[in-house]
Amino acid sequence: MREQWGSQTGFVLATIGAAVGLGNIWRFAYIAGENGGAVFLLIYLLFVLLIGLPLMIAELALGRRGGGDAVAAFEIDRTGSPWRLAGWVSVVGAALILSYYAVIAGWALKYFLGAATGDLWQAAEGGFGGYFDRFIAGSVEPVLWQGVMLALAAAVVAGGVKKGIERINLWLMPVLAVIVIGLAGYALTLPGSAKGVHFLFAPDWSVLARPEMYLNALGQAFFSLGIGMAVFSTYGSYVGRNSRLPRSAVAVALGDTAFALVAGLAIFPAVFALGGDPAAGPRLAFITFPQVLLAMPGGTWIGIVFFLLLTAAALTSMISLLEVPVSVACDRLGAMRSRAALTVTLIIFLIGIPSALSYGLLADWQVFGRPLLDTIDHGVSNFLLPFGGLAIAAYVGWRLTPVVALEAADFSGSLSGRLWLWLLRVAVPLTISVILMRSVGVL
Ligand code: PHE
Repeated sequence: MREQWGSQTGFVLATIGAAVGLGNIWRFAYIAGENGGAVFLLIYLLFVLLIGLPLMIAELALGRRGGGDAVAAFEIDRTGSPWRLAGWVSVVGAALILSYYAVIAGWALKYFLGAATGDLWQAAEGGFGGYFDRFIAGSVEPVLWQGVMLALAAAVVAGGVKKGIERINLWLMPVLAVIVIGLAGYALTLPGSAKGVHFLFAPDWSVLARPEMYLNALGQAFFSLGIGMAVFSTYGSYVGRNSRLPRSAVAVALGDTAFALVAGLAIFPAVFALGGDPAAGPRLAFITFPQVLLAMPGGTWIGIVFFLLLTAAALTSMISLLEVPVSVACDRLGAMRSRAALTVTLIIFLIGIPSALSYGLLADWQVFGRPLLDTIDHGVSNFLLPFGGLAIAAYVGWRLTPVVALEAADFSGSLSGRLWLWLLRVAVPLTISVILMRSVGVL
């Protein structure tokens, strides 16, 4: 009998833990900053609701109905179905994401430790830009912290679904929610913070004319929710029949979005109050924000808490990504969970080393015109995740019969069920295809 979540709350919190991560804080802040704020936010919310949510319900349903790993999720029509290739692609994709995600999570850990020991603030004399660049150009530290983060994730996954994954999320996610709300509350009391709120919520409609804004909003919706890379089908396989999937998915999508919004309310008011640049790109969280902190009353304390939040949120997402290949190893090779966790983590660590070195030793090695880590991140968000979403929509919408699909996702023939199926059959594939074709220049 497959292991199951201990409770509905445990399942929902673990799944929110998978969704909430670097994407909500580091990536959301810089993508929203670069794409003009409020209007981007609106389009992003639309994509979450009309594309992300239906896909999340579908992926969870595939996982539960498949009753096994992410490959089994695509064998519902028949065992050995060629669709299982989509399952394998998503398993490899999850491992690939984890390989570079762990590197950035390692940066967050390094900053947390630096903030706590005071090193970070001392180094600020030469500016955070220099500090960050020196750090990521090294050959030892980026690999070291990447390894530490992976070891932490492995330890949790080795503990099992209920005793490892569920347990850590049950206490960590509420703590992280309190932290992010507290940070936002404080940032909003700073004089001048209203400009940050304005940036996030007052629309400048001219942004609508920028085609890349839609692309970025879709990529961000996929990345932040974490759909298309077998995480939800794997977590869904541990859900019991009595759980209502649409309701759980709504809670996860809401939780993920709320988290990004509140994190934005912690970052932008502070950035604006102290005259930072909201469009600073991936460096926003690691250079601009610490600079702002230094000028803020109590900023060094805020820094410790902020980077703790970033590290812990990244960890719960890493756990979900690691569980995908680990469950495959357990199911297909009959491996013991702890041994599978160790071996898979080791392999992912090795695959990730070039990413960790991509601004140092391998800085001259540009792949498609960018450092390796940037190219992987770009390729994953713009191609791999949308492709994964497309596969889910096609399989659930067109390959399974409507009766099987609706039943697997706990929909009766009601209006919401019909709407869900229509979104999966038509709206989701159409939007994703247009965006994919645009990103390769076909449209
Ligand atoms: N959703 C996670 C984040 O926002 C990242 C992730 C991507 C997790 C893909 C699972 C799958 O950080």
